[in-house]
Amino acid sequence: MSYLKSFLLIMAILFLPGRLNAVDTPQDAVKYVSPFAKENERCFTCHSVKNYLYTDESDSKIYKGSMDQEEILVRDEFYSSNHKSLSCTDCHSSQFRSFPHSEDAKAGKDFYCLDCHGGDPAYAVFNFETIDSEFRRSVHSRLEEKGFTCWQCHDPHEYRLVARKSENPKAAVKYNNDICLGCHGDFERFSRYSEDKIKISKVHKWLPHQETHFASVRCIDCHGRENEKLLVAHYVMPEEAALRDCKKCHTEDDNAMASLLVAKPSGNNGGDSNAWINGLSIIGPNRNKNLDNMLLTFFAAVIAIMGIHILFRFICKKI
Ligand code: HEC
Ligand code: HEC
Ligand code: HEC
Ligand code: HEC
Ligand code: HEC
Ligand code: HEC
Ligand code: HEC
Repeated sequence: MSYLKSFLLIMAILFLPGRLNAVDTPQDAVKYVSPFAKENERCFTCHSVKNYLYTDESDSKIYKGSMDQEEILVRDEFYSSNHKSLSCTDCHSSQFRSFPHSEDAKAGKDFYCLDCHGGDPAYAVFNFETIDSEFRRSVHSRLEEKGFTCWQCHDPHEYRLVARKSENPKAAVKYNNDICLGCHGDFERFSRYSEDKIKISKVHKWLPHQETHFASVRCIDCHGRENEKLLVAHYVMPEEAALRDCKKCHTEDDNAMASLLVAKPSGNNGGDSNAWINGLSIIGPNRNKNLDNMLLTFFAAVIAIMGIHILFRFICKKI
């Protein structure tokens, strides 16, 4: 194989989407068998369909009715989420096992992420405590009394790790931005927290190729403040502080602005090579010196190897 070919191959492995190990997707989920599958199925019988028909095991009573869209869960999404191995009643009162659900059951308070993950060394890599304090400074925390918590961005029945695991940058950007647009683009949902109108495309008028940008950069790349302890920024800044400078992402000398600077690395996960390779997937404004150096070293190494090879061929031919 020529060096050009192997060089291209290395580049392809490093930089093209569709590499590395597979991530959990709803399609893979079918393979996962929960220890609580049977128990959860009792809830899914009603909570996964528009019109439910349920026979109570204890008294053979039959319940029929229609389910609100909001209360319909997608089984495959649940079984590919971070919390797939939990039972419904790990987070919800066991009183939900009976129907009609009692007022007592509904009055129960939701668990907070830190109730389960706080101070747990097994989750130290995520820095839950730092995320929590960043969220508390964030613009959304003033909506807390209207019920805005971590769960508003992390759908309890669908949330899964993406930036950390994804092999497909575009899909990771979409997953991320759908979290924000699921509210900032949904009049009904947004109005539960604010009387303001939705004006997401109007406020970004200054940004050309809005669609391309929203499909290629994460909202938090412009709206979040970096924190070196976190892979994903959780401090969403007031709008005035948002990134507007094209040159933070595009090279200065290129009029078309279409060429990008080196992609942003994931930053904090020193040591985990997968993490930095994955981090390349996500484009962002802040360059990382270490990564730049790593890439430079890498290119230098490739060129050196090619050089040595040519030299050896040259010497061999002479002899
Ligand atoms: C017979 C059908 C049926 C079954 C079985 C069922 N649910 Fe429900 N559930 C409903 C309906 C209908 C509603 C909406 C009306 C209401 O709130 O009672 C609901 C509402 C809920 C809510 C929202 C309550 C709120 O605060 O508004 C939760 C949470 C819930 N169910 C959890 C569960 C869990 C967990 C299970 C399994 C252990 C389960 N349900 C089994 C029909 C069912
Ligand atoms: C990791 C914890 C967790 C697990 C596991 C969980 N839920 Fe929930 N669920 C929540 C939280 C938190 C809310 C409230 C969400 C909010 O405030 O928007 C909720 C809300 C609901 C609602 C009300 C509608 C909604 O989405 O707001 C229903 C119905 C429900 N859950 C059913 C279930 C069923 C059925 C299962 C099992 C398949 C389940 N949940 C598993 C945490 C969980
Ligand atoms: C009722 C307890 C409980 C609550 C509440 C809870 N979690 Fe979890 N979480 C777990 C458990 C248990 C696991 C491990 C599941 C497994 O390994 O299959 C987990 C796994 C995770 C993982 C995956 C870790 C990995 O290495 O794959 C993440 C990320 C996570 N939770 C984030 C959150 C966030 C964010 C919230 C709040 C929005 C939250 N959790 C709320 C119990 C909880
Ligand atoms: C405004 C929306 C928003 C809020 C509020 C929010 N998050 Fe997140 N969070 C995100 C997004 C977007 C991601 C990136 C998802 C991905 O690509 O994996 C994320 C990722 C995470 C991760 C995984 C980070 C990693 O290192 O892989 C954890 C853990 C987490 N959030 C916890 C929390 C906790 C705890 C809270 C509440 C204190 C919270 N989040 C509130 C949007 C939010
Ligand atoms: C290239 C950077 C960039 C990207 C990407 C971006 N924004 Fe913005 N955004 C800005 C700037 C700059 C402003 C401030 C505009 C102004 O004040 O005129 C803003 C304003 C906003 C506002 C304030 C509008 C209001 O109603 O007061 C919201 C909300 C917002 N953006 C959400 C988002 C969401 C959601 C996404 C992802 C789909 C996103 N932004 C993507 C840079 C960006
Ligand atoms: C569940 C709804 C919801 C979700 C999800 C959500 N937001 Fe918001 N966000 C709001 C509301 C409501 C406001 C308006 C706050 C106010 O009026 O005080 C807001 C305000 C903002 C602002 C403007 C702050 C300012 O200075 O006025 C920005 C920027 C923003 N959000 C970005 C994001 C980003 C980025 C995400 C995803 C990571 C996101 N939001 C997810 C509801 C949401
Ligand atoms: C947060 C980083 C970021 C900022 C800030 C940013 N861009 Fe971009 N821009 C991107 C990315 C990523 C792409 C997608 C490149 C791709 O897909 O090849 C892009 C694409 C483009 C394109 C090509 C669109 C197309 O359809 O091919 C143009 C032109 C452009 N940006 C101009 C601008 C201008 C002008 C500004 C400032 C007003 C700006 N960008 C700010 C990251 C950014």
